[in-house]
Amino acid sequence: MAAIPKGGRVAVTGAAGFIGGWVVRELLDRGYRVRACVRDVNEDSKVGFLKNMGAYASGRLTLHSANLDDAGCFDEIFKGCHGVAHVSHVSDYDDHDYVRRVCDHIINSVNESESVTRVIVTSSIAAVISEADLQELVRRPVCYEDRYPDESNPKRTPARGQGYSMGKVIAQRVFSDAAEVHGGWDAITCCPADNVGPIQSAHQKEKGPWQHNIETMLLGKYYQNGAYRPWMTVDVRDDAFCHVGLLESVAVQNGERYIAWSTDMRKVEDICADIDRLLPELGHATPGVTDPFPERIQAREEELRGYWAHVELRNDRMKSVVPIEFRALDVSIRDCVESLLSVGKVPAVLREGFEDKQA
Ligand SMILES: NC(=O)c1ccc[n+]([C@@H]2O[C@H](COP(=O)([O-])OP(=O)(O)OC[C@H]3O[C@@H](n4cnc5c(N)ncnc54)[C@H](OP(=O)(O)O)[C@@H]3O)[C@@H](O)[C@H]2O)c1
Repeated sequence: MAAIPKGGRVAVTGAAGFIGGWVVRELLDRGYRVRACVRDVNEDSKVGFLKNMGAYASGRLTLHSANLDDAGCFDEIFKGCHGVAHVSHVSDYDDHDYVRRVCDHIINSVNESESVTRVIVTSSIAAVISEADLQELVRRPVCYEDRYPDESNPKRTPARGQGYSMGKVIAQRVFSDAAEVHGGWDAITCCPADNVGPIQSAHQKEKGPWQHNIETMLLGKYYQNGAYRPWMTVDVRDDAFCHVGLLESVAVQNGERYIAWSTDMRKVEDICADIDRLLPELGHATPGVTDPFPERIQAREEELRGYWAHVELRNDRMKSVVPIEFRALDVSIRDCVESLLSVGKVPAVLREGFEDKQA
C-alpha cells in the first residue's frame, strides 16, 4: 500500500536472531525507531547485545517480549508502527496448520494496529530452489523470483524434507492474501540466501546454519552439504540492507517477492580452505570435509554436483528496487570468522606453531 516514512517506527520479530539483529541495527543506522520483539526481554544472554546499542539507552530502540505462538501477543507492540519486518522463525515448519495459525497471529495484530502499511515477510531461497527431484533444476535452471519449486511433485512433502520450503511458500501466500483483503497494508516477501557474516552475540554462533557451519570448521570438523549443494550466499548485513530497502521502496507491490543473494556460489571444501587463505595469521588447521552420506548417495556425487553447477542465480529484481552492491563472499567469511573468535570465543583448532591470540 505504502512505503514506510523515513524515521518511522518499525517492529522486528526475531530481533535477537542472526538476521533480525542486523535488521535492527540497519534500521537504527538509517534513523528509524525500532520495537525489537524477542522471546524474553530478560534473557540477557540473547538480548544483551540489543541492550548495549546506543539507541536502547536513548529509548529509540525498545525491547518487547512476545511468543509468536500466543495469539494477540503483538497487538500492543504493533500499534503506532509504520512497518513490520517479520524475520522470526516459527516453532515447526512441518505442521502447516500451525504455520497458518502463527501467520494469522501476526496478520491480526497488523490489522488491529491501524498504522502498519507494510510487512516484510522473511522467507528463504528454499522457497525458490528446494526441489523434491533435482532434475527439475536442469529443466528450470534460472533461479529468480518467479521460480517456485515444482509444487506438483508428489514427493514434495514434510516427510521428504520439504516442510521448510513448503511452510515458507504458504506463509508468503497467507500474508499477501490477507493484505489484499485488508487493502490498507502490503506484504512483500524477502527470500534470503545462505547468510554469512559477523555474529553480534555469542548465542548466534549456534544458530544459522551457515555461521554455525563455519564455527564447526574452526573447531576442526566439517560435513558435506546435503545433495552436495554449494553455498549460495548473502552477507547478513546486505540481507538486512535488503529488508530495510524493501520497507522503504515505492516501487514494490503486494504479493511480490525478492531474493537477497549476491549470486556467489562456493563449495564446502573451498570454504574450509578459505579461512586459512583469508586469515593466514590465524594458522587455522583446515579440516578435511567429512562425507556422512550412505554409499548410494556418494556414488551420485558427480551427478548431484552437476545439477548445481548449471543453475543460474539472478538478483536483478532486488537490485532494481534496492540500491545495493553485495559484498564479496570473502569479506563475509573473514568477518564471520573474526566475530566467531572475538564475540563467540570459539577456540579454533590451530596448526603447530600458532597460538590463540586472545588467551
Ligand atoms: N540464516 C540463514 O541463512 C537464512 C536463510 C534463509 C532464510 N532465513 C530465514 O530468516 C529468518 C531468521 O533466520 P536467522 O538465521 O536469523 O535465525 P535465528 O538466528 O535462529 O533467529 C530466529 C529468531 O526467531 C526467534 N523465534 C523462533 N521461534 C519463535 C517464537 N515462537 N516466538 C518468538 N520468537 C521466535 C528465535 O528466538 P529463540 O532464539 O528464543 O528461539 C530467534 O531469535 C528465518 O525466518 C529463516 O527461515 C535464514
